[in-house]
Parts: sequence; structure tokens; C-alpha cells
Amino acid sequence: MRVSVFGLGYVGCVSAAALAGDGHEVVGIDVNPDKVDRVNQGRSPVVEPGLDEAVAAAVGTGRLRATASTAEAVRESEVSLLCVGTPSRRNGSLDFQYLSRVSEQIGDALRDKKDYHVVVVRSTVLPGTTHDVVIPALEQHSGKRYGEDFGVAVNPEFLREGSALKDFREPPVTLVGHNHAADAAAAIGLYGRVGAPLVTTSIRVAEMMKYASNAWHALKVAFANEIGTACKQFEIDSHEVMDIFCRDTKLNLSSYYLKPGFAFGGSCLPKDVRALQYRAKEADLDLPVIQSILQSNQVHVRRAIDEIVETGRKRVGLLGFSFKAGTDDLRESPLVILAEALLGKGFQLRIFDRSVSLARLTGANRRYIEEQIPHLSVLLRSSIDEVIDESDIVVIGNASPEFGEAVLRCRTDQVVLDLVRVPIDFGRLAAEYRGICW
Ligand SMILES: NC(=O)c1ccc[n+]([C@@H]2O[C@H](COP(=O)([O-])OP(=O)(O)OC[C@H]3O[C@@H](n4cnc5c(N)ncnc54)[C@H](O)[C@@H]3O)[C@@H](O)[C@H]2O)c1
Repeated sequence: MRVSVFGLGYVGCVSAAALAGDGHEVVGIDVNPDKVDRVNQGRSPVVEPGLDEAVAAAVGTGRLRATASTAEAVRESEVSLLCVGTPSRRNGSLDFQYLSRVSEQIGDALRDKKDYHVVVVRSTVLPGTTHDVVIPALEQHSGKRYGEDFGVAVNPEFLREGSALKDFREPPVTLVGHNHAADAAAAIGLYGRVGAPLVTTSIRVAEMMKYASNAWHALKVAFANEIGTACKQFEIDSHEVMDIFCRDTKLNLSSYYLKPGFAFGGSCLPKDVRALQYRAKEADLDLPVIQSILQSNQVHVRRAIDEIVETGRKRVGLLGFSFKAGTDDLRESPLVILAEALLGKGFQLRIFDRSVSLARLTGANRRYIEEQIPHLSVLLRSSIDEVIDESDIVVIGNASPEFGEAVLRCRTDQVVLDLVRVPIDFGRLAAEYRGICW
């Protein structure tokens, strides 16, 4: 393909050299004339292992050159990759001045171009930026219409400096956000020789996915350093702990626990996080990530309460009472905390939980239910339909498989608040549906 790459920094230069190496015809553009000159001399403008050689090879074959002329670059390419910087402003907000400017320049150049041209945003941009900044600038400056005369796709870059060329070749995923198949095809066409699973999605999901990834990576570093700090204090080898930790690919390094839903609870996580927090405090250790975990969980319960309050409905039916489906363990169940808060605010409450009802009759938890939460246990109903019929808002509290089917029996005047995202046949759902964080 014929590709123009805007911005010859780390991402742009690596992309330009690697794409040229894969046989594409690439022209790089930068506002900095030194970077343009260096590329044309066959040298990398940034320090990155292997990049000097890759640029030299690409320039040598004639498949990579650089220019300062946007018009020429757009005219002579079918796809433009935006790789300009998106730094922080002083207040932390995203500074999209470079992105705006480059979009305006490409828009100006598109004014005289007849062929359909696709602009691929490779810079990291907050959700909404492509629709609010890039597309309007392109439309205004080209006098053309997005989706008809030109296309736009979002294709976040996952490379790490220091191993950028290798990461370009073997990214975890090739992610393409788009609204039109032709735009996706142009972006996908660039990566025929890149060995990675291809994922196509909407523009907004692609934009957000990059932030979810980077926030997660940052959290992993901070978490590992805090565990290391605690280990050092307790005279334990942190690397041995984390080596073993990383061997657990079932719960630790896996997709488990990574789906948005309701607060954690049960007999282990709250108690054990609390104990670790206490021990750290005792030792005067400053571990802000670990110290904030329980607070984050409480805020999430608060979110559910606020969501219920906002509906203005007073009769609440709670489906699920234990912290997860299929158990009768009510210790530190966030649904118990939710129920108590709602009762305190004067809501009328009905609760259904098959496992807890059984436990109330026979199980070992019978005493806990009768002695610790008698005021809640009287609200338990044995019929799911009784709870639904007598409620204005039905809250799905845990992922019991029967709840997705049960809420299909809700009336049109009812609200369903889903805290877990159970599978629901939305075509058959009459009630208004809300999710706690989706
Ligand atoms: N550096 C990384 O490891 C990395 C990894 C993944 C994603 N990203 C994202 O990719 C984007 C680029 O990052 P970077 O580190 O390569 O930035 P960088 O600052 O190294 O390079 C940006 C380049 O864009 C040029 N530029 C600015 N305005 C221009 C214009 N109007 N026309 C042409 N060129 C212009 C600048 O002169 C500069 O050379 C950012 O959004 C960043 O968040 C960076």
C-alpha cells in the first residue's frame, strides 16, 4: 500500500520503517526538518535498538522517504497514519493541539484529492477525540464528508520503547476501530505481515481499550512495587513471591476478576486485604494502591445505592443475596451491605436467593442468618416471582443463571438494575434496563 506517516517520533518512525520493510511504499512527514533530513539520510531521528538499520534499509530500497509537505504526502498515499504526540497539559488533560493541527493539514490536502483516503489514528487519544477533534477538522478543512469522501479508523499502537521494532512485528493484538468496512480494510491491509490476532471494533472502544491497557500496566507496576515494599519490610524475597504469583495463570494472570461487575465480598478478599493494610500501617509503610482497594469497593457499593435512589422507585426486589451465585456464605456480602443501606433509607425490600433460603432452613449458616441479620432474613422470599411482582426496581445482585430468564417476566413499568451482567435476551425484556458500570 502507499502510506503516509505523520509524526516521525518513536511510534511514527518505527511504523514507517517497519511498514516499508514489509513492502509498503511509505512517506514520513514531520514538522521538524531535522527529523525529515535524518530519515532521508537513512538514519533514525530517535534512539531505538535496530531502528537506524531499519531506516537505512528502507530508505536504501527506495520504499521510505520523508518530506515536510503534507499535500504531497496525502496526494501520493491512500492511507495516512497519525502518529503525532498527545502529551498532557499541566492540569493532566489531553493536549490535542498536534492532532488538531495535523488533521487540519490533512483536511486541506484532501480538498484537491479525488480518491477515497483513509486517515488512521495511531496516536493515543481519549474516547471521543476522533469524533470530536479529528473528523470535524478533516471535514471542515477538506469540505468533504466523512464516510463518503474519506474514511477514518483508530489503530492504537502497543509498542514499548526499547523493544519497539519487535513489538511492532509481534503486538499482543492488532486493534482496528472503525464505522465503515472500507476504512477497516485499509488499516488491516497494512498489517498483512504482522503476526497478531486481529480485532475490529467501534472507534470509541478502540480508543478506550488503549487507556484501559495503559492504566492496567501502570497499576501492575505500582502493585508489584507495593508488594515488594511490604516483602522487604517483612524480610521476604519479593521476587520469589512474585515469581510464584506469576505462575498462577488461573486467577492471577488471567481474565478472571477483570470483568466490570459488582463489588467483591465474601469471607476472604475483604478480610485479607484489611489484614495486609493493617500490617502495612503498623510498619508505617506507605502503600497507597493497596490502601485504597477497600475504599474503591465501598464506593462501588455506593454507586449501586445512588443508581437505585436516582430511579425514584421505592420498592426494591433484590435477586441474589450472597456475594456470588451458588453459595450461602453471607459474610461481607456487598449485597447485604446494599440491603442494609436501602433499608436505612426507607426502601421496601424483598430478597430472593435460593441458596440462602435453603441455608436458612437447614444449613450451617442458619445461625448467622437468624442472629446476625434477622432484620434482613425476614425479607427473604422463597419465590422469585413474588419478589419481582412486589417491586418497582429489580436488582440482579449475583450471576445465578435463573435471573436472566426471571427478569424477562418484569413489567414495562419496572426497572432492572443489573450489577453482574447476566446474559439477558433483550428482545424479550419489557422493563427498562440499567447496568451498574456498562
Ligand atoms: N512512545 C511510545 O512508546 C508510544 C507507544 C504507544 C503509543 N504512543 C502514542 O503515540 C503517539 C506518538 O508518540 P511518540 O512517542 O511517537 O511521540 P513523539 O513526541 O516522539 O513524536 C511525535 C512527532 O510528531 C511530530 N509532529 C507534531 N505535529 C506534527 C504535524 N502537524 N505534522 C507532522 N508531524 C508532527 C513531532 O515533531 C514529533 O516528531 C502519542 O499519542 C503516544 O501516546 C507512544
